Amino acid sequence: MKNRLSQVMPGGRCFFMAMDHGYFQGPTTGLEKPGETIKPLLPYVDALFCTRGALRSAIDPLNSKPIILRVSGCTSMVGKDLADEEVTTSVEEIIRLNASAVGVSVFIGSDYEKQTLKNLSQLVNACEMYGIPVMAVTAVGKELERREARYLALCCRIAAELGARVVKTYWCEKEFDKVVKGCPVPVVIAGGPKCETELEVFEFVSDGMQKGAVGINLGRNVWQNPNPVAMAKALRAIVHESASVKKAYEIFNEGKQKLESHAGRQVLQ
Ligand code: R5P
Repeated sequence: MKNRLSQVMPGGRCFFMAMDHGYFQGPTTGLEKPGETIKPLLPYVDALFCTRGALRSAIDPLNSKPIILRVSGCTSMVGKDLADEEVTTSVEEIIRLNASAVGVSVFIGSDYEKQTLKNLSQLVNACEMYGIPVMAVTAVGKELERREARYLALCCRIAAELGARVVKTYWCEKEFDKVVKGCPVPVVIAGGPKCETELEVFEFVSDGMQKGAVGINLGRNVWQNPNPVAMAKALRAIVHESASVKKAYEIFNEGKQKLESHAGRQVLQ
């Protein structure tokens, strides 16, 4: 268990690259070809959060990162209720795919609260036997307004009490520290829809880290940005080097300029 956790959280901190969106949204913008999207970002992230289908079809087994396997699903954006999830992947398959951890969503307060908490509990029962950490994802489906401290603290604590080794939850503007303090296992910040500016992303990540989160699980705010590599470098600096927002923005701009001058040279050639 400790060894697997340290694979995905070297030094206790983590930058997970979320690329599991297709499991309920289909070919999300920027992730139509997940293998190509992710390739240049690999040097900057600690682990990939993806489904077995993406792993099988898009990730080179010879040149990858530790995998956190998304193992809940069976719903879609166009279906009745995103919360109606089941566990999709057997423990044998999780082991066969050499996953370092697994992720499962819980939809607390929804009609499927009990079902999704049972998914988590049963997955913990199966995975603990083999030393595989389970990350609970406190999901809100389409009800994004639920992302406030009191609700998130409740979700994180319940997930940890049921045996999650890590909890992924949303950052919130007010009292995020209370969310982290009430959770006895490491808290990882989820992304959410793409922010208007890069600074906004750096600000919420930096605030969340200062308030006790151990890292991030971000997708769209990285690979939907026109400069995904520069974004990844800057976010890595916040997570692993405690870089300030200002420093992160400098790193982002440096990365962006390098790319622009490289593109300029290519045009001249
Ligand atoms: C939830 O677990 C999702 O499937 C994503 O992993 C999560 O929302 C992070 O991705 P994004 O930063 O694009 O929201």
